[in-house]
Amino acid sequence: MSAPEHVTAPVLAPEDDELERSLRPRRLEDFVGQERVKEQLSIALDAAKGRGEALDHVLLAGPPGLGKTSLAYIVREELGVGIRTVAGPALERKGDMAAILTSLEERDVLFVDEIHRLNRAVEEILYPALEDFRLDIIVGQGPAARTLTLDLPHFTLVGATTRTGLLTTPLRDRFGITYRLDLYTGEELGRIVRRSARILGVETAEKAAEEIARRARGTPRVANRILRRVRDVAEVRYDGVVTLDVAREALALLEVDAEGLERIDRELLGAIAHKFGGGPVGLSTLAVTLGEEPETIEDVYEPYLLQLGLIQRTPRGRTLTERGRARAGALRPDAALF
Ligand SMILES: Nc1ncnc2c1ncn2[C@@H]1O[C@H](COP(=O)(O)OP(=O)(O)O)[C@@H](O)[C@H]1O
Ligand SMILES: [Mg+2]
Repeated sequence: MSAPEHVTAPVLAPEDDELERSLRPRRLEDFVGQERVKEQLSIALDAAKGRGEALDHVLLAGPPGLGKTSLAYIVREELGVGIRTVAGPALERKGDMAAILTSLEERDVLFVDEIHRLNRAVEEILYPALEDFRLDIIVGQGPAARTLTLDLPHFTLVGATTRTGLLTTPLRDRFGITYRLDLYTGEELGRIVRRSARILGVETAEKAAEEIARRARGTPRVANRILRRVRDVAEVRYDGVVTLDVAREALALLEVDAEGLERIDRELLGAIAHKFGGGPVGLSTLAVTLGEEPETIEDVYEPYLLQLGLIQRTPRGRTLTERGRARAGALRPDAALF
């Protein structure tokens, strides 16, 4: 199911171009925020390097745009090794995974994005590879079939997922290290915006950087996208300098409100308020109403709405909080419950 035109959120639209890559932090020291993750990772990296061994397998979990792919590349950079990158759903047959595994060199990083979407057969050949660096291949058919065992180099799997709960237990258990990335604070996002502005060569007022950070829904990728759209407005309508007024004008064009909510967020709140009496409403029903995938709602939109305290997840579905109801204009804040 693809989203109808009217719910497409401009700032959240998928996009992975040159520009985004140029903004990606390369070293651990460039990676802003997530201090505990950085501290633990840097110890693990130093220890592995000191022993001359491959780093333990690493699972990175968190909503889109928080730095999972960046961290995978940082691991490779810090270890000074090679990397192979694949998207979980792109591996269709066992042979695809076997070919990748046998192409790895000692201590290389294998980065599997969306690792919760690996198919079962492909996932199963990973188990012995992760645990014993061994690949079992069946050759031939019927009574003549034999299992061949190949030794693999000691490599590091870095897996990225939007939620650890989506992984099978046997796969999850094979990661020695798991990091959960959280939404960023406004201060951290401000640092990211200033860093990106410097890389892009855009003169940006301090107040403008703060404003963009405040409205970036806790997400570096969103902060960078807003900055790029703001830069467009500064260049096309003004002299290229990003002032607070220019930032506000661009954010208004993008329909990003003061708290960073986009049109789709407002539609989501409005749907719960007006179509489902404030909730609870099941995720799949909500998804159909909005013309979005349930997974997108859960991974992309809800984390920020939950953090703002506008919605709640209950066993019977999603409900608006009192704040959420006020926000959706469903009821005056002092009115009786639905
Ligand atoms: N901690 C961070 N510090 C600086 N920039 C970041 C950070 N995390 C993410 N970014 C920026 O956001 C973009 C998206 O991050 P990415 O690693 O692709 O996220 P994910 O893989 O979790 O979706 C990166 O290209 C980078 O510019
Ligand atoms: Mg990614």
